[in-house]
Amino acid sequence: MVRITPSILDADFARLGEQIGCLSGADAIHIDVMDNHFVPNLTFGLPVVASIRAVTEQLLDVHLMIEQPDRWAPAYAEAGAGSVTFHIEAAAAPVRLARELRARGARVGVALKPATPVEAVAGLLDEIDMVLVMSVEPGFGGQSFLDLVLPKVTAVRRLIDASGREIWLQMDGGISPATIGRCVAAGADTFVAGSAVFGSADPAQMVRRLRATADTAWAGSDRGELR
Ligand code: DX5
Ligand code: ZN
Repeated sequence: MVRITPSILDADFARLGEQIGCLSGADAIHIDVMDNHFVPNLTFGLPVVASIRAVTEQLLDVHLMIEQPDRWAPAYAEAGAGSVTFHIEAAAAPVRLARELRARGARVGVALKPATPVEAVAGLLDEIDMVLVMSVEPGFGGQSFLDLVLPKVTAVRRLIDASGREIWLQMDGGISPATIGRCVAAGADTFVAGSAVFGSADPAQMVRRLRATADTAWAGSDRGELR
């Protein structure tokens, strides 16, 4: 099953409620929190997540690109994020943090930057609900997709399948109708798209187009036959 989780990073923040209203056909709203330390960009934090929580019933998929996630991430679960993803490169005690997030009722995601090896997440699979493989260096929307991460996506897919657990495999960065098919073929099932959605004249239509393109790739893949 394919999931489309659009990022609001390229939305018009002066009309954020209205822009989120365009995403009712999506599986989650992806919210990119950046602290200008883990990445060289600054976005928004807890008050914005709480405000979005108040205007939609959809799953909020918070992607924390911050230092010290051990300190800050649990508050995002308390603010209503149904899924909280932290970067393994920044976490001091990822098992403890994952358990703290689950104790607050959130799904747990662990993100890998493009050069972070698959081994970083291999020992954590019992503790988490999603692996996020970044297909750009985190920090900005609108960057070009990095094909070099696709073998890692396939390696993560093998680990997930071997675990027997229902762990989502998300990709984020440069996802568009032109790239989503090869992400599906590599083994991903959950797709963030920022500039593709909010750079288009009709964001709702772009969500449908991404899903249709991914579904077609899924049906044509080994997984389409198996599942
Ligand atoms: C980048 C963010 C992404 C960003 C993706 O660091 O994590 O979620 O919004 O934007 P596009 O889809 O334009 O690459
Ligand atoms: Zn993101």
